Amino acid sequence: MAAEPRRTESGLPVEPVYGPEALRGWDPAERLGEPGAYPYTRGVYPSMYTGRPWTMRQYAGFGTAAESNARYRQLIAGGGTGLSVAFDLPTQMGYDSDAALAAGEVGKVGVAVDSVEDMAVLFGGIPLDGVSTSMTINAPAALLLLLYQLVGESQGVAPARLTGTVQNDVLKEYIARGTYIFPPKPSLRLVADVFRYCRAEIPRWNTISISGYHMAEAGADPAQEIAFTLANGIEYVRTALAAGMAVDDFAPRLSFFFVSRTTLLEEVAKFRAARRIWARVMREEFGARDPRSQMLRFHTQTAGVQLTAQQPEVNLVRVSVQALAAVLGGTQSLHTNSFDEAIALPTEKAARLALRTQQVLAYETDVTATVDPFAGSYAVERMTDEVEALALGLMRRVEELGGAVAAIEQGHQKAEIERTAYRVQQETDDGRRTVVGVNRFRLDAEEPYRPLRVDPAAEARQAARLAALRAGRDRRAVDRALGALRRAAAGTDNVLPPMKEALAARATVGEVCDALREVWGTYEPVERF
Ligand code: 3HC
Repeated sequence: MAAEPRRTESGLPVEPVYGPEALRGWDPAERLGEPGAYPYTRGVYPSMYTGRPWTMRQYAGFGTAAESNARYRQLIAGGGTGLSVAFDLPTQMGYDSDAALAAGEVGKVGVAVDSVEDMAVLFGGIPLDGVSTSMTINAPAALLLLLYQLVGESQGVAPARLTGTVQNDVLKEYIARGTYIFPPKPSLRLVADVFRYCRAEIPRWNTISISGYHMAEAGADPAQEIAFTLANGIEYVRTALAAGMAVDDFAPRLSFFFVSRTTLLEEVAKFRAARRIWARVMREEFGARDPRSQMLRFHTQTAGVQLTAQQPEVNLVRVSVQALAAVLGGTQSLHTNSFDEAIALPTEKAARLALRTQQVLAYETDVTATVDPFAGSYAVERMTDEVEALALGLMRRVEELGGAVAAIEQGHQKAEIERTAYRVQQETDDGRRTVVGVNRFRLDAEEPYRPLRVDPAAEARQAARLAALRAGRDRRAVDRALGALRRAAAGTDNVLPPMKEALAARATVGEVCDALREVWGTYEPVERF
């Protein structure tokens, strides 16, 4: 019986040999363009890494602000060229560290930030005009952005000189990650308020990181990952236009975030296809004229779900291949996972090895010597066209359902991702999909491993800091500021200016979010069985 043809993660057939017929009638001028020119298939900058390597931006954060500050200084000292803040779940969900719902989670999966005082400690000794900082924060993204601005002001750094990104992408939280607070309508209003505020106050700030990573980690294949992400991007653009903004006033500061899998060839094709789709959507559907509005700039994180707890050192090889895929695909910023992350928070040594992996790629290989080396490749250009066609079909389906929010409310994206995740699990369980060390090439006895432990006393220390903050602030000033915020949230004025006043008066993250919960309510997920 003829062997089944190999298929890509997106389910596309892979030919054992590609030849000239794969690109018959294919027009490089139309399909590729020049590097740094429309439709940006080959990359968003003319010189790409020959001009400047990607940003080595390692996601980090745990315990209290003081502990995370120490890790950030280590990463910068070790050669990291951008910061990336992981917040703990209470902060991401808009609860204070001493809230009942926060118990057991304070400082666990990221750093606890309750106030402007915590933010000042988090960036102590780090001049904010000398670093770009990404913050993985969604529902309360506006608050953490304002806290960052307040710390910058306390350092004497003008807001216009701050650079960085807030993830601020709540739509994917409804689909795959879960750290949402408010219903879609007020959430989208808050995203548009951030766009408008940054245009006026913090013009170099990337206002959103429209993410496919978490949908991929939940099971989305490459075509689904870019299709659902770009469909979310279209929803955000429509929201800002409906709020009265002009497309070239906010689109240059949209950014994206994707995963990078071990299946290198399809991943390179995926990144190139995503750039071409977005360039066309922004120019043809939204009439964007500013080239920066058409450029899909993105961050990549290597695939966490492909790490194994078994023989963890083997993950060093997986991460290297995944990182190479991101670089060959033209990423602007990269996080390489630590080999021990399938077991626990990364140890210092594992975090250092993850960074060194990027440095070997940037400084010992030749992949930074030339732009988009796969251009013209029979196989990768064919894959790029095929992943693009598949993604466009999935985007059309979302449009038929009424757009990203309507599709989310029908459970569409979630159901499609779960279907893919189930298929992959079946293939792994029955051995059709090899996972080295897990279902093949196993060890009889795993070697012992000592993971990093987060200090359990962090929660008590954070609660004490909160008590001192509340005792030492002007309660009337806080109440006045929160009242002004509630009035803005109930009306149509931008909520960020009164929000900044409240945070400056030492209102806590939980108090500000509670004020918004009172006005906007909270999101109740649609359950489909
Ligand atoms: N030629 C000319 N200029 C160049 C260049 C070149 N070759 N390369 C870079 N530059 C310029 C850029 O134009 C830019 O200038 P500007 O600030 O004036 O626009 C500057 O150099 C910096 O370059 P980039 O903007 O390309 O790189 P950054 O690293 O600053 O930004 C980004 C990259 C993708 C646009 C930005 O949004 C970013 O950093 N995103 C990071 C997001 C992130 O880290 N997310 C982590 C999420 S963790 C998570 O969610 C997973 C967890 O839940 C498990």
